[in-house]
Amino acid sequence: MVELTREEEEMLYGAHGEAVARAMEVIVRVAESLGAPRLVPIKHAHVSGVSYGTIGEAGAVLLESFASSGARFRVPTSVNPIGYDPEDPDGAGILVVSREFIRGQQRILKALKRMGADLLLTCTPYYTEAFEKYSLSVGDRVAWGESSAVAYANTVLGLKTNREGGPLALMAAITGRTYLYGLQVDENRMPSHAYKIGTSYDEAVLGVLAEYLAENHESEKPPMIEVPRPPRDYEVREFAAALGAAGSIGMAVIPGVTPLPKPPEPEKFEVVPEGALKRRLAELEPDEGVDLVFVGCPHASLEELALINARLGKARIPVLVTLSRDVYARAKSLGLIERLRSKGVLFLRSTCLIVSRAKSMRIATNSYKAYFYLSKRYESVGLAPLSKLLEIAGGAR
Ligand code: F3S
Repeated sequence: MVELTREEEEMLYGAHGEAVARAMEVIVRVAESLGAPRLVPIKHAHVSGVSYGTIGEAGAVLLESFASSGARFRVPTSVNPIGYDPEDPDGAGILVVSREFIRGQQRILKALKRMGADLLLTCTPYYTEAFEKYSLSVGDRVAWGESSAVAYANTVLGLKTNREGGPLALMAAITGRTYLYGLQVDENRMPSHAYKIGTSYDEAVLGVLAEYLAENHESEKPPMIEVPRPPRDYEVREFAAALGAAGSIGMAVIPGVTPLPKPPEPEKFEVVPEGALKRRLAELEPDEGVDLVFVGCPHASLEELALINARLGKARIPVLVTLSRDVYARAKSLGLIERLRSKGVLFLRSTCLIVSRAKSMRIATNSYKAYFYLSKRYESVGLAPLSKLLEIAGGAR
């Protein structure tokens, strides 16, 4: 039995309108099935599953039905990437976008806007200037529906969120509530097992480490990761995304990165066999012929754009970077976009290769998550760190 406050009962029984009652019923049912004792208020929601390519007509109709029955978001709500770049409908010559697809996508955006969404259209809302307006701080409860962002929120930002599906994040946004369960409970955020990597690493190694954890970490509690040097932000972000793609882990504890009060000594300690990670990486290496180098899954940061600019000469193979409109605009004002374009870098805003429809290509990426999904669609997809990708592009310096 889930204990509800008076206001939550009113929401459930229709005093706040039909849409709120529908959404509350879903939240309460899920809470009951999980055995959550009560609901908790959230300060922010991030809704995923908003690409017409992913949710199609059925998803568009669901969102429209909520919007037209009066649903309005009770907390600030941002949304994930969509199926094309509205500022470049030709998709940099890489995407396949039909008029019908654009119409379907626009209906989804209209419904989300009507409900009060901030159309950030990115899986890294935390890199946008708008994110600061939400005034979120360590320990705040949120309900996020993008698995890469969930693991980043818990691991790096210290926000508390379970890994919600897109529809559940939507219901949480409409009600302003989630259930007290899983990573919303402090005790469940304390690591039980520690894993150490002994030697040098990069984001590709962290990607296969996430796969190793998905197969070997049996505890419900987050794994603690010990690495020989402090990770760069984009390396942690790639790791978080890989955790979400390879399995269901929604948080890791990385000393020096995760804002936790002093965690308890883990019960189990393991040095990850270096050979296993190396062998797996060798299996995933990109093939000889590559048509496209892909960076920015999850959406890239300013830091990465500066890094690519510093390390890339003139690329022979196009380098595609996917990112938010916000980061693109700031990079443009710094002159970075122009410099990168002149070196052969292509950009897609508000979308990515996974949630859109792209032409058939042989791809090399530094994102385990992109590898994971694209390799189901294309014959040749390989994983390598950024330094190697820039070599492949032919322009490393
Ligand atoms: Fe983001 Fe697309 Fe990757 S939504 S996490 S860039 S699959």
